[in-house]
Amino acid sequence: INQGNGVKGLSELGLKALPKQYIQPLEERMCMTNIVPQGSIPIIDMSNWEDPKVVKSICDAASEWGFFQIVNHDVPVEVLENVKDATYNFFRSPAEIKNKYSKEHSSSNNALEWKDYLSLFYVSEEEAFTLWPSICREQVLDYMKKSKVVIKQLLQVLMKGLNVNEIDEAKESLLMGSMRTNLNYYPKCPNPELTVGVGRHSDVSTLTILLQDEIGGLFVRGNEGDDWIHVPPIKGSLVINVGDALQIMSNGRYRSVEHRVVANGSKNRISVPIFVNPRPADMIGPLPELVANGEKPIYKQVLYSDYVKHFFRKAHDGKKTVEFAE
Ligand code: SIN
Ligand code: FE2
Repeated sequence: INQGNGVKGLSELGLKALPKQYIQPLEERMCMTNIVPQGSIPIIDMSNWEDPKVVKSICDAASEWGFFQIVNHDVPVEVLENVKDATYNFFRSPAEIKNKYSKEHSSSNNALEWKDYLSLFYVSEEEAFTLWPSICREQVLDYMKKSKVVIKQLLQVLMKGLNVNEIDEAKESLLMGSMRTNLNYYPKCPNPELTVGVGRHSDVSTLTILLQDEIGGLFVRGNEGDDWIHVPPIKGSLVINVGDALQIMSNGRYRSVEHRVVANGSKNRISVPIFVNPRPADMIGPLPELVANGEKPIYKQVLYSDYVKHFFRKAHDGKKTVEFAE
């Protein structure tokens, strides 16, 4: 069924019905009645990011929502436009080229997700030049480099919110010692209501920075029951979310929140997340500064690579992975 050109290839066959491998069980499909009509995650202007009011709004968003959008940040809009173009160009490449780099289908609950993706682990520029596809590597490198400035600002703010006022080299490496960028392509789908773009999950990162195009389709779990809140595309904005690693390090103060992507019946969508992670060999657990204040640690220390392995062992399953650290 997979003609060797991924889900995009399937989409372009013009099928009238969704191939059955992509049909998700009822409980994994997005139920439109659960969408909060006027719901919205915070939108934060980063131009005065050190202002105590802005610091507070970022820390509050990270603890109440786990998700927010930033505008007027330091990543130039051309850099964002270029990495979007590069993403389209990569997925438009001939199948032989894409298959050299792309992963197998990802699945949730054994049914497949309606999505193609490329995952680029950053080790060094030199390695990127040998291992990443030439059609997108400069644009992705530039996007990562410019985003790093904003990532450092956000982490400084979030640490301040925990009364951790100094990010030394060891802490910086624990918070953002390794990074990965994914290029996601969600082709238009013949029966979007029967499948998912990405199933419910939380990220294993410290933070995720996400660039999305103008199509929309990302939903975040709200604070009540089975409420889901749409993350509307805003030109030039970046979506920021707390990952499990930061939830654990903050001893539950900041929350990593479930999210999912619906499939679209009429349009192709792309998104480009940067996952900011600890290094695989790092032990992660509630930060010593928090525990030193007499706070009871609600998570144990775990090896980050074991945590990630645990996440990838099975299909997307909401927030289950965090139990590994309890
Ligand atoms: C993801 O969370 O895996 C993807 C989010 C998106 O494409 O908007
Ligand atoms: Fe995610």
